[in-house]
Amino acid sequence: METMQVVPRTVLVTGGCGFIGANLVQALCRRGDVRVVNLDKLTYAGNPENLAELPPGAPYEFVRGDIGDAALMAHLLEHHRPEAILNLAAESHVDRSIHGPAAFVETNLTGTFQLLEAARAYYGGLKGAAAQAFRFLHVSTDEVYGSLGPQDPAFTERTAYQPNSPYSASKAGSDHLVRAYFHTYGLPTLVTNCSNNYGPYQHPEKLVPLVIFRALEGQPLPVYGDGKQVRDWLYVEDHCKAILRVLERGRPGETYNIGGRSERTNLQVVQAICDILDQTQPPRKHAPHARLIQFVADRPGHDRRYAVDCAKIRSELDWRPEATFESGLTQTVHWYLRHGTWLEHARSANHQDWLRTNYQHRVAG
Ligand code: NAD
Ligand code: DAU
Repeated sequence: METMQVVPRTVLVTGGCGFIGANLVQALCRRGDVRVVNLDKLTYAGNPENLAELPPGAPYEFVRGDIGDAALMAHLLEHHRPEAILNLAAESHVDRSIHGPAAFVETNLTGTFQLLEAARAYYGGLKGAAAQAFRFLHVSTDEVYGSLGPQDPAFTERTAYQPNSPYSASKAGSDHLVRAYFHTYGLPTLVTNCSNNYGPYQHPEKLVPLVIFRALEGQPLPVYGDGKQVRDWLYVEDHCKAILRVLERGRPGETYNIGGRSERTNLQVVQAICDILDQTQPPRKHAPHARLIQFVADRPGHDRRYAVDCAKIRSELDWRPEATFESGLTQTVHWYLRHGTWLEHARSANHQDWLRTNYQHRVAG
């Protein structure tokens, strides 16, 4: 189906110092034809070093702030007059949402609400072509759909929401608000629901970088429960390309599922990382790394399986993942091997506290 193609000149990215946000800001800056304003609160997950390699003179501006700060958001929109808002600011870690759900409701739900309110006021003042071109793109997750059984069909955009964690519930709530702002106020919104990302600049609390750095140090690799939970893995650069495709060609009011068509059990993911590390040269002193795998107490309410049907974005917007799981994971492991200083900084004092909070109580099974 043909839709108007949007080519924004100024984009407001929120959460651009996080994992996906930083990869997206870099992709936008590489294009050279877009001015990027990055609004980020710099929580424990926001890392300015993620953008240290932006080309000098890139059309880029950083603002430290909270999407929930109504006055700041109104000011930013009036001052920079973006043609698009890409909302990636969020509390993103499921395990942290179990230990402390309040921040998730505050940022993912209330923060998105405040951002929508600012966007609604700003959009209301746009006229003609500027109003036609404006987009609010909300980046969300496949976790809003809940958990699948082994034989269930993959999530489509029509699958009912059944979020199971405080994280996914807060994201689900934000998706509903975005939908309501399209239907009630005509704000030209787009929602993307993506599967598990991996790649450069991911916070080391998440499975892939966690396993890489622990394997390098010869520490136990914690696998929750039986390790047979299934996720659909997508290389982060492919996710960023999908977001930009939806921004430019997506139909306002629509949601688009994004996935890697790479279902793997957690144990397969951990094993694959170990295999890649085993093959690096010179040989590493903790090889074979798989002997470090340790089964630990499961995540409460742990979703068993996610799988994403991407037929809609493929047929309507001609997007599909370019990396295979094997090629993307190999690139990722080598990226972390080359970025030891980045990893060291990302594992700040706060990260050590988190490791104690999340892992100390888990008894090896
Ligand atoms: P992340 O935790 O790495 O980064 C989040 C960023 O948001 C950080 O830079 C943080 O400082 C910033 N932030 C947090 N609260 C904020 C606030 N109130 N105001 C402004 N900035 C704030 O997260 P990520 O993995 O890059 O995820 C980005 C988005 O993509 C999230 O909405 C997440 O739900 C979604 N998503 C993530 C994945 C994944 O596998 N990582 C998959 C699908 C969807
Ligand atoms: O599905 C998309 C989601 O993917 C995003 O919405 C989230 O923001 C993102 O964090 C990610 O959520 P997960 O919970 O799937 O990611 P995480 O890396 O925390 O865990 C991946 C799987 O590995 C999950 O089944 C839990 C398991 N796990 C995780 C950790 C940290 C372990 O077995 N051991 C661990 O130590």
